[in-house]
This record gives sequence, structure tokens and C-alpha cells, in this order.
Amino acid sequence: MKGVILAGGLGTRLMPCTKVTNKHLLPVYDKPMIYYPLRTLVNAGLKDIMIVTGGNNAGDFLRLLGNGKEFGLKDISYTYQEGEGGIADALKLAENFVDKDKMVVILGDNIIGDDISNAVKEFEKQERGAKIFLKEVSDPERFGVAEIEGDRVINIEEKPQKPKSNYAVAGLYMYDSDVFEITETLKPSGRGELEITDVNNEYIKRGTMTYSVLEEWWTDAGTFESLLRASRLVRKTLKENKSSG
Ligand code: G1P
Repeated sequence: MKGVILAGGLGTRLMPCTKVTNKHLLPVYDKPMIYYPLRTLVNAGLKDIMIVTGGNNAGDFLRLLGNGKEFGLKDISYTYQEGEGGIADALKLAENFVDKDKMVVILGDNIIGDDISNAVKEFEKQERGAKIFLKEVSDPERFGVAEIEGDRVINIEEKPQKPKSNYAVAGLYMYDSDVFEITETLKPSGRGELEITDVNNEYIKRGTMTYSVLEEWWTDAGTFESLLRASRLVRKTLKENKSSG
């Protein structure tokens, strides 16, 4: 199983902070944002990890993380996304690295309180397809939103005006290598990007999509509001851990 962190994009929702650095290097409480998704993957047992980055500050990831020694890794792979083609476009760049393996993909601005080890183990046993993570939120219109029927997701709508549920699709996905065949068929959305939601809907159509619900906290950190929320959640968790341990 491979790990892929998508940390490209121009971070326009965080201008002017992102004028001189990459969004994923901005601080979330006491650490650079990229530390959190990297920690999520490492804690789930992943050792082969690629960071897809872009923009003008790509070299800073190497200066910050090097070979990932601080995370107990032997090395980290890096690749570069030109322009801003969207999440599914960035994922294409991981094809050679992932090859025929399965993968966990995490968006570099998603900060997750859960330990995802069990879901990763479940997906290792899943013969094929994909698995997504859902979380009940009060503002689903900001995210991909899952329509659920029984124990299956039957459709995902990207940032719907009238969400069909309160279940946001977190920026954490598990795929088999079919994903690279699917990304080749995508057409740019209204915002000019290849959407990860279109990838997920294709897996739903093929009947090979499963899901897991996040039980702890989850937030993105791509806007000023969510960046502040992320810092507060991290600080709260650190304090709780200190007082319980
Ligand atoms: C992306 C995805 C969306 C998902 C969200 C999670 O949105 O397109 O489906 O719910 O990440 O953070 P974006 O942040 O690119 O607008």
C-alpha cells in the first residue's frame, strides 16, 4: 500500500499568505500543515509516501521534511504539479510511484483526529475498488456530499446548493490502481479542474465503492476560518492528551 499526499494548488483562498509560500507549509497551531496528513499516513503504517506539490515554493518541502527522518521514514518521494489542474490531475502524477499497488490519498490541507489504521487494514482486504471517509458536518455545501442508501453511497455531489445529506466526503481516499485509468477519462468541471468527486462517482457506478465514517474530529484548513478551526482543534487535542497522559 502506497501513500500519496496532494499538496499542490495555489491556495488562492488564503491570499495574501500564500503569495510567498505554499498553503501546506503554513502553521496549524505549532506545526506546518503538511505534518498532519503525513503523520496520519505514517500512523496508519504507510512507509512508501509521495508528496505531490507545485507552485513557486516546492523546494521548501524538501528543506522542511528531507527524507522524513523525523517521522521514522527512510525516504520520501516528491513530484511536481504544473499549474492548478485539480486534485484528480495531481493524483495522475503519482501513477509511476504507485504502479499496480493500492493507495491511500490524502489532501495536504485535511487535518484528521482519527487513527485510520483499521480502515486501511479493511481496504487491504477489499478485493478491488475504493473506500472513502465521511463525516457529519453542519456546512455540507462546502464539500463533496454523499447521498447514502442503506449501507451504500449512491452518489456524491461536489459543493451542492441543496445537500442531500450532512455527510461531507473527507479529503482522504483509498483506491486501487484502476484510479489511473479513471483519471484519464475525466473532463474539467465548471471550476476548470479535474474533480476527485468524478473519480469517486465512477467507482460508485462500478459498484466497488465502500465507506467508513470518521469518529473523531476532521477539518480542512484551506480557508481562514477552517485554518483557525484546525489550529484550535489541534491545540485542544494536545491539551487533552497531556492531561490524560
Ligand atoms: C475538495 C474536494 C471535496 C472534499 C474537500 C475536503 O474540495 O473537492 O469533495 O469534500 O476537498 O477537504 P476543495 O478543498 O478542493 O474545494
